[in-house]
This record gives sequence, structure tokens and C-alpha cells, in this order.
Amino acid sequence: MNGVFMNKLRIGVDYYPEHWGLEMLQNDISIMKEAGIGIVRMAEFAWCRMEPREGEYDFSWLRTAVDAFTEADIQVVLCTPTCTPPFWAFRDYPEIVQWDRSNEVIQTGVRGHRCLSSRRFRDLSRKIIVKMCEEFKDDKNVVAWQIDNELEANYCSCPECTDYFRDWLRKKYSGDEGLGGLDDGKILNVINETYGNVVWSGEYSSFEDILTPPAYPNNWLNPSYMLDHLRFANDSTKEYIDFQANIIRDIIPDAYITTNAWYCENSLDHHKAFKDLDFASYDNYPSTDVNDLSSRAYRLDMIRGIKDQNFWIMEQLTGIVGSWMPMQPAPVPGMIKGYALQAIAHGADNVLHFRFRTARKGAEMFWHGLLEQGDLKGRKFKEFKSLCEEVTRLSEAGVGETTVKSEAAILYSYEDDATLKFQKQTDNLAYIEFLKKFHNAFTRLCFGVDVVNPEVLVNNGDGSTHNPLSKYKIVVVLPAFIRNKTALAMLEDYAKKGGCLIICPRSGVKDEYNNLVDEVLPGDFSRMAGIQISEYDPLGKRKIRAAVNDKLWIQVQDALAKEEDRLAQMNVDSANDDKASGKNSLDEDLSSADNQSANPNNSSAAYSNFIGLGKHLKDRNDLFSVDTWADIIEPTTAKTIAKYLDGFYGFKAAITENTFYNGNVIYFGTLPEDSAIIGLLARCFSKMNIPLEVLPEGVEVTRRVGDTGAFTFIFNNNSEQMRFTMDNREISIKPFELIWF
Ligand code: GAL
Repeated sequence: MNGVFMNKLRIGVDYYPEHWGLEMLQNDISIMKEAGIGIVRMAEFAWCRMEPREGEYDFSWLRTAVDAFTEADIQVVLCTPTCTPPFWAFRDYPEIVQWDRSNEVIQTGVRGHRCLSSRRFRDLSRKIIVKMCEEFKDDKNVVAWQIDNELEANYCSCPECTDYFRDWLRKKYSGDEGLGGLDDGKILNVINETYGNVVWSGEYSSFEDILTPPAYPNNWLNPSYMLDHLRFANDSTKEYIDFQANIIRDIIPDAYITTNAWYCENSLDHHKAFKDLDFASYDNYPSTDVNDLSSRAYRLDMIRGIKDQNFWIMEQLTGIVGSWMPMQPAPVPGMIKGYALQAIAHGADNVLHFRFRTARKGAEMFWHGLLEQGDLKGRKFKEFKSLCEEVTRLSEAGVGETTVKSEAAILYSYEDDATLKFQKQTDNLAYIEFLKKFHNAFTRLCFGVDVVNPEVLVNNGDGSTHNPLSKYKIVVVLPAFIRNKTALAMLEDYAKKGGCLIICPRSGVKDEYNNLVDEVLPGDFSRMAGIQISEYDPLGKRKIRAAVNDKLWIQVQDALAKEEDRLAQMNVDSANDDKASGKNSLDEDLSSADNQSANPNNSSAAYSNFIGLGKHLKDRNDLFSVDTWADIIEPTTAKTIAKYLDGFYGFKAAITENTFYNGNVIYFGTLPEDSAIIGLLARCFSKMNIPLEVLPEGVEVTRRVGDTGAFTFIFNNNSEQMRFTMDNREISIKPFELIWF
């Protein structure tokens, strides 16, 4: 079953027959057919209609809907409804409600209140999932299952979760770590020693002393304890996911199973959570504010990295978003289509939109759907139709049988991301910002990038000693704060064999227990980088100056600045030509429903997409600013390629380069402004004889490759038309347009 439907790309919607009534179903299906919708997702919040009273099941309404979609040749994704247990369950079994970090039972009445570990909740969940699977087990048109909805790491502090955490610790510190057979007293000694609990007189003398994290700020709490609890919270949610997946698989052995990922304060470690699921999926709501467009490209690449495979979007932006906050700007023409295609360009195979219609009832009525209030088929509907047509063309060309191919990788670690939030290093040092900056730099240089995780790469491997990083020309390690031996071995081997490795500051600081390593920084990375860090200055938002100390870098930066000027001029000239001939993109676009310009013919706005690279380097070609962090570096075998100019460490090394066996290891002791990051990457490319391409800010190029061919995608995440050259070919691309060939 899966082999067949996997090769096709599909556009879909999230559909709620329990909200809207079955009498609308046939008419809705004819609207879906008119639009070109090929798949629907249903039932993630519908428990109270499936089991109105305990033990009384009613799937007749869902059966009618599934049959009607099957008849219409529209595929179905079904969800387990466990995110929203009915009121009777909370009333009769109060122990299934979560407790918050203040040890208070949370209030019910919205959604997501259940404690994932409660035995009673598990029992109720098992029963409803079994009944649901038995009802739909023979429906081949149910092509996938979603577990629950937008799960998070389990931060519940109820007595059951607290006991569960204690058992997790007991197991970790007596068995898995090779200390088998220890009694509780000895285990507590090991934990006390590991955490350094003597600090503030926090030693445990009984397991009863161990609680889940209280509601104090995270940085007031013991870092080792916090990391252990984070790991527990993730293991506990993963165990819940696997519990559900096993129930489904027992009844439907070839079920194709996922859960929908999202990012929030208690985000899951998705690499772990999805390990035993069949595919990753994500809820994608890019910003609609044209004055504050931030590309979702890095997120989409992160999602692809969850399993290092193609993925699905389970909820995609479909209209104005609001309800949880005041309404945001309306998606401008081209956005709905463009953002769905952008996801496909980054490896999505199915994109389901939230949701079919703008709901008349319920708290989320201002989170708009495809059909406007009163079921009006407006501008967005036309655009959506043209999206479905485009996706059919992509599918027919064989894009569904391809996967994204990139030549650069950014190594992502959930634990580094999370622990740098627990103990913020400076007010602006955020792991994800490093990711965004390097991702953007690769994008500006027209270089596709994977966001990969070492454990996933090992799991996906064939068990041989082949290094999965070896296919990349360049690898960036974001702040590798917590020791990760798998990553370290992979990186060392990659560098030794001739790779180009970039290491970010705050790497090698902590051991695997989140304690400081007893080594000179950058700890595990010192030998590879050929440096020692004698001191550091947490810069935060303070900016200081730095200077390039490398001829090739200056030359490349110069060439980049010139190329940008040429592209900027090209945009201004062509905008002026359009003006002179009385033509503007609005005229052109009014004739077609898709890709209308939000800010047509705005040459000065377009120009601003090009003035980054040379800006600070024009007069003095070798200067740039840095902020966030400043490692004061003493090279041992490395050479200095950039120096600080200010502060008591003026003229000390800021960025270094080391030859490590056959490889090249660059250490960033600081966070330079974007133009310098782009310049330094371009210098690395130049050393590797990779031809230089520069794209305007907001333009993204990705490639999907497979037996059916190699496809290039160019997406313009700008509200202005962009003109540039790529492979010596002139490209002109409208706002939010996706061009492919
Ligand atoms: C998602 C969620 C949906 C809906 C949507 C809009 O995060 O899964 O159920 O709430 O956001 O708020």
C-alpha cells in the first residue's frame, strides 16, 4: 500500500465532520474535487463523539465520512483522539489530569490536559484506539495514522510521573551505566556525586526527595538534574508514542504512522520521538507579515533531518491566523501557494492544510480555513486550485520519487539547544540563532543544506564504518555544548579524511552530565581546532570590531560585494525599464490568480535585498562587527584568520583555521555579522574550487534528485519581484513564486 501512495505528491486539508455535520459532506467533497484535493486528515479531537459515555462507542459518523472519501478517491489520514479526552473521563478519573510545575492539578476545559503516563489514561486510550483500529483496519484508503496531536516533552508533576522519574533515575544510575546491582542508598550517592548536590545542601537521602522540576526559573535549578529530567521527559513521551504505535500495529500491521511535530517551550526531542515511527510530519505556519518575513526554510530542513527522509506537512497555513492571539496580517496573494510549494521543495511529499473551512463555532473560529466565512470560495480558493494543479504537474514529472540532495550539513543537537536555554550564556546567545545564521549564509550562496543529527545518521546507516558525513563538502557544528561521543567520533573522522569543518563557540564546554569539563576550552575540540581558549568575554548585544587576517578571504569578500552590486543594479535597471514601459508586475499579475505582487515594482525595496555583503567592508575591505560572544583564542597549531580590534583583547585571535590531518577545521570564537559569515563560507568554497553563486536575500534554491530525474526549485520568499543570474541564466521571480525545472 505505502509504496504506491508514497510516490505521489498530494495537497490535502484537515477536515472535521464532527464539527460541521454529515449533511455537508457530499457538497464539501465536490468542492474538494473542484479544488484538486487528494487527501484529508480527520478525528484528532473527536473522542467525545466516538465514545460519548464510557464504553459506548459510535464510529458511524466517521465510517460515513471515510466511506464517502474512499468513494471520491480522496485518501484519508486518521488520528487517535487522545489529545482531548471527554469530560466524563476527567470527571470519573481525576487522576488522568496533568499537574503543572507548581504541583497544582491543571484546570480542564480547553485541550491537552491529559497526563501521558497515567495508568488510567493509558487504559482509556488503549480502549478507544483498539476500537478505532478495529473499525478501520480493512480500509486501504486510510493511508496513514497520526498519533495524538502536537505532543511535547512530558513536564507533568503528578505523583505517577514523579515516581516514573525516580524509576528512570534508578535504572539509569544502577543498570544502564554499568553500575548494576546497586541498592537505593548507593544509587543516591552516585546521583548526589554526579549532580554535585552538596552545593546548597541539596543531597538526597531518600528517593522521596527527588521531585520533578519546581516552578523556579530553570537557571536556578541544578543543571545536571535538569538535563536528566529533560531526557526523562522525552523518553516518557516517546514511550507514550510507542505505546500508541504498538496498539495500532497489533491490529493493522502495515499501518503507516506518524505524529505531528511542532516547536514550543517544552518541544520534544523529535529525533528520539520519531525513531520508531514511519515518517515525520510537521505543522507549518510561516509568518504572513510582509514587513517581517522570516523564512521557514531552516525549519523545513530540520524536519527533513528528523528521520533524514522526506516528510509530510499535517497542518499548513491556509488563511489569516488568530484566536490564540489577535489576528495576523492576511496572507498576500501567492503566499498560500508559495509556502506549500516551498515545503515540497524542501522534501515534503504531502501538504495538508489547516483547514477546509473557517469554523463557525469553537475557540479557533478566527484561525481561518480555505473556505471563507459563509463558505465563500474567494481569492485563496482560486490560488489553492492553482496550487493543486501545480502539484499534479510536479507529481507527474516524478518529483514524488525524489529526495533532497545537499552538499552542506549543519549538525543539530536537541540537548545543546535545550541546555543553552536552561543556562543562557548571554542575553542573545541562542542555539537556534546560530542555526538560522549559518542556514541563511548557505542559502545566500546557493548551497543546499541538510540539518542532520548524529544519532539519526548512525541509525539510518548500514552498520558499516562508513561515515555518513563524508558526502558533505562542508559541515557546521553549532555550539556543541554537551559532550556527545557519537558526534565527536564522526566529526573527527570527517575532518581527518579531508572534510571542511566549522565549529561554533561554546563547544566542548560540558560533559554528558551537563557539568563543566575539567579541560582547557574548547575541550574535546581543542586538538581538532588547534587552539586553546585563554579567556572569554560574554558580549551579549555589545558589538565590537574584528578584522580579517587572510588574503583569500579579503579577495572573496571583495568579489562577493561586486557581484551583489551587479545584481542590485540589475534589479534597479529592470524595475526602471518596467516603469518606463508602463508595465508593472501588478498589471501582469492581475490577469492570473496566483503570484500577484504584494509590493509590486518597488525597486528600492528590491535593492535592499542586495546590500548586505559589501556593506561593512566597502571602505575597509577587511572589517566586520561581532557580538554575542568572544572567545580569546591562543592558537597552538592553527593560524589566525580574523582578529578582534577592540577591548582588552584587541589583536587576539577571533577566528582560526587548522589543518587537521587532511582536513580543514575553522573555529569561530565569536558571532560575526552575516556578511562575514557568508564571506568566510565563500572563502571555504573558493579553497575547494566550488564556483561562487550569490542569491538575493530571501531567494532559496533546493534540489530533489531520484531515478525520475534531478529537479531544481527556486523560491522567492520576498514580497518583491527578484532578478538575478544563476548558472549564467537570468531569472526573474515573482513574490512567493516557485520556479522549477
Ligand atoms: C495547531 C494545532 C491545531 C490548531 C492550529 C491552529 O498547532 O494542531 O489543532 O489548533 O494549531 O491554532
